[in-house]
Amino acid sequence: MARRRAKDPLADLDPQRLPRHIAVIMDGNGRWAKQRDLPRIEGHAKGIDAVREMVRACRKLDIPYLTLYAFSTENWNRPRAEVEALFGLLVHFLRKELPELEKNEIRLRVIGRLERLPQAVRDEIADAVERTSRNTRLTMTVALSYSGRDELTEAVRRIAAEAVAGKLKPEQIDEALVAAHLLTAGMPDPDLLIRTSGERRVSNFLLWQIAYTEIYVTDVLWPDFGPEQLRAALLDFAGRERRFGQTSEQLGGAD
Ligand code: IPE
Ligand code: IPE
Ligand code: MG
Repeated sequence: MARRRAKDPLADLDPQRLPRHIAVIMDGNGRWAKQRDLPRIEGHAKGIDAVREMVRACRKLDIPYLTLYAFSTENWNRPRAEVEALFGLLVHFLRKELPELEKNEIRLRVIGRLERLPQAVRDEIADAVERTSRNTRLTMTVALSYSGRDELTEAVRRIAAEAVAGKLKPEQIDEALVAAHLLTAGMPDPDLLIRTSGERRVSNFLLWQIAYTEIYVTDVLWPDFGPEQLRAALLDFAGRERRFGQTSEQLGGAD
């Protein structure tokens, strides 16, 4: 008790220096379980608690966009039992959290190759997405069966089809048009990307959208990532100078 921070770790952050959009590669569930001699799925179950805390924290801080990497297309190559258990946890989460999402005006979006998911899981997702579609305080996007390269490839395919159909001239293709063909159309790019468990890679996540995102890697495993860790990430972000290719002097940072 004595070591516990008396104050809310998120209470005194400068609202002017907060990201508008946080993206998270939630990694380390398996290692968290392994450290405790538990099956990997126990790590995923604990990871869901961390998701709940993260959503609450973003809502409290008035951060309007949170994007969570929950399952990559490459994760389909994991043992079938683990994949099935993960989807079971997802359905459980959706059912349990839906009232809280609705109450807190949180919109759920899902990006990825949902056609690969079992129909019952897709129905559950579609219901939660529809029921929260009019909420505007926080958009929580879950990347599920997601691949950044696949998303870009699909965008290219659709743009090409429009060009072939005569709806679009090649010279009309610009960055805004590409962005509008991505699954994240209409959302601002992430300002901050957090990856837990110490891995320094992006693992096929939001490849286009993170062009100028600040990256924060922590060794903390996802199930252990709570408000204290989020505070550390946000303080780190607040101290960064985002130059977007300009010099520090141009930004007025040096004088
Ligand atoms: C992240 O944790 C969750 C998913 C990829 C579904 P991992 O399951 O990758 O955990 P580690 O990396 O094996 O510790
Ligand atoms: C990335 O984690 C995907 C998710 C967090 C859902 P992985 O654990 O699958 O990534 P790699 O294999 O270590 O790159
Ligand atoms: Mg991993």
